[in-house]
Amino acid sequence: LPVPPMSIRFDQAAGTLSPAGPELTRRMSDLEGLFLDQNAWRTAVADGDPIVYSVVSSLVPEADRELPQSITTIQPGSTGGEFWMTKGHQHPNHQGEIYLGISGRGGLLMFDGTDTRWVDMTPGTIGYIPPGWAHRSVNVGGKPYSFLAVYPGGAGHDYGWVLEYGLGQRVWRQDDGVAFGGYFAEAS
Ligand code: 6PG
Ligand code: NI
Repeated sequence: LPVPPMSIRFDQAAGTLSPAGPELTRRMSDLEGLFLDQNAWRTAVADGDPIVYSVVSSLVPEADRELPQSITTIQPGSTGGEFWMTKGHQHPNHQGEIYLGISGRGGLLMFDGTDTRWVDMTPGTIGYIPPGWAHRSVNVGGKPYSFLAVYPGGAGHDYGWVLEYGLGQRVWRQDDGVAFGGYFAEAS
């Protein structure tokens, strides 16, 4: 259903939108196949199945020609040495998207099937996702990382693409920061 012209309250400190639409919570058990270390993933599921990230949306519908927004908050953490992250997806119609960093320290990992790009996301950074670039967000800090996303309502979300092709690189926790490595496991 279309919505009328409206004001949406964006509370930067709380990371909320109001009036609010659907809210989505992704727990560790929802993230099968994401982390390279599957045993570490299984252990984390058995060990309390923590919330990894949540997404709150405004009332703007995901429909053609609409321009919905949502705020994603990724909790700090790592599993098997990989920083906590979103599932990641490709927009099937290859629509572009913008992100605005709100709080915490994160990054935007993008992959077009050949090249990988990383954009550091801190409060105030606008990250641009060009058409055709699959994207995943990663929390590389010690606090929750939140960002606002604005995207075409008809964009759709293809999660299978990322499961098949990956995102080019993985993002590993290091004592002194972040390290990038190959996406698929070495043949053993
Ligand atoms: C979108 C945005 C963004 C994203 C969330 C959760 O297209 O809607 O990229 O809102 O959906 O950050 O990430 P996943 O959709 O990959 O779980
Ligand atoms: Ni997207």
